[in-house]
Amino acid sequence: MLTSMRKKVKVLLVLYDGGSHATDILKEKSQPPDWQPRVRRGVPELLGTTENELGIRKWLEDAGHTLVTTSSKEGEDSVFDKELVDAEVIITTPFHPGYLNAERLAKAKNLKIAITAGIGSDHVDLNAANKTNGGITVAEVTGSNVVSVAEHVVMTILVLVRNFVPAHDQIRNGDWDVAAVAKNEYDLEGKVVGTVGVGRIGERVLRRLKPFDCKELLYFDYQSLSPEAEAEIGCRRVTDLAEMVAQCDVVTINCPLHESTLGLFNKELISKMKPGSWLVNTARGAIVVKEDVAEAVKSGHLRGYGGDVWYPQPAPKDHPLRYAEHPFGGGNAMVPHMSGTSIDAQKRYAAGTKAILDSYLSGRHDYRPEDLIVYQGDYATRSYGERKK
Ligand code: NAI
Repeated sequence: MLTSMRKKVKVLLVLYDGGSHATDILKEKSQPPDWQPRVRRGVPELLGTTENELGIRKWLEDAGHTLVTTSSKEGEDSVFDKELVDAEVIITTPFHPGYLNAERLAKAKNLKIAITAGIGSDHVDLNAANKTNGGITVAEVTGSNVVSVAEHVVMTILVLVRNFVPAHDQIRNGDWDVAAVAKNEYDLEGKVVGTVGVGRIGERVLRRLKPFDCKELLYFDYQSLSPEAEAEIGCRRVTDLAEMVAQCDVVTINCPLHESTLGLFNKELISKMKPGSWLVNTARGAIVVKEDVAEAVKSGHLRGYGGDVWYPQPAPKDHPLRYAEHPFGGGNAMVPHMSGTSIDAQKRYAAGTKAILDSYLSGRHDYRPEDLIVYQGDYATRSYGERKK
């Protein structure tokens, strides 16, 4: 229930399209052409799609508010650009980000709050948001998909280290050549794994890696884990990033994208990484310099790169990280931005978005402090830099 309703508000929602996946199971490829389900139904669990709209349309409209939903966010006919001029609330998702840059923020004269359905609000120019319309609120659903991402990180590490992708390609192609894939297949046991960022996701990754008996688990972050947590996980902090990556067989990136992480993994830092190591990035595409990573994989300096984040998104067809392969073949475990949008995660970030929206629309403004990124003209979190140290 929306409590103590005030004026009617226009909400603009930018999500990815679900198409037949969200609306009609009749079109599932796995079913024979004459197959008829007894009940024709949609797939409402795909809440993060334009079809299912995080499940908020009826709730908003019953209260007299307006909801405009679109996936059209770029180009001359962008619905996002057209509709943002009078929207008071903009909700977008990192999986199909409506980039709220300074130019767009300047046009959004009614905007009061930008909500990220998920985690990571780097698609909003946060410095500009601090000044827009006297300082808008930027909030995200902290914690909503951290388990989903941590699981994906562990999977990607294993997929790369075990050289799964080219091996599976052989099977799909009707081939069988064990040596061709075993020559680049290793065990995770005995390897050194390090995370850049040991927040909610980074710590969960380390905890999930513990049973693999790695040689060492390392982390680089300007915030330290408690001594109890370090002892429980069996990990060690390294205070210099270059020093950490030089020791690692696997590096996983789990920090936000902000001014000091933009392009962090460039030619210079990558050259400090151990030859033959793997890099996993499920944080944000722009934390790495895509050309430099692609070059390092193609030269064999990196044994592989995997993850699900790109810049921009959707990734253009010619994005170099779609095709970068190790000289032995494989070494590419990239997928579309999906790790944090599992069906379970969608339920959580849809519920969290609704809670933030309710808090705003009701005028209570009783947000969870951890959800606030920008509030009352200032940064509310330390995660986006060392500002609040
Ligand atoms: P968090 O806020 O709990 O942790 C982030 C950690 O990074 C903090 O400990 C912070 O001190 C650290 N950090 C910040 N700047 C750093 C730097 N320059 N070097 C080293 N550490 C730094 O955030 P959480 O929930 O762990 O998420 C991390 C990031 O993962 C998000 O900001 C988002 O970009 C990404 N993410 C990706 C998803 C996906 O679907 N691929 C889904 C959810 C999050």
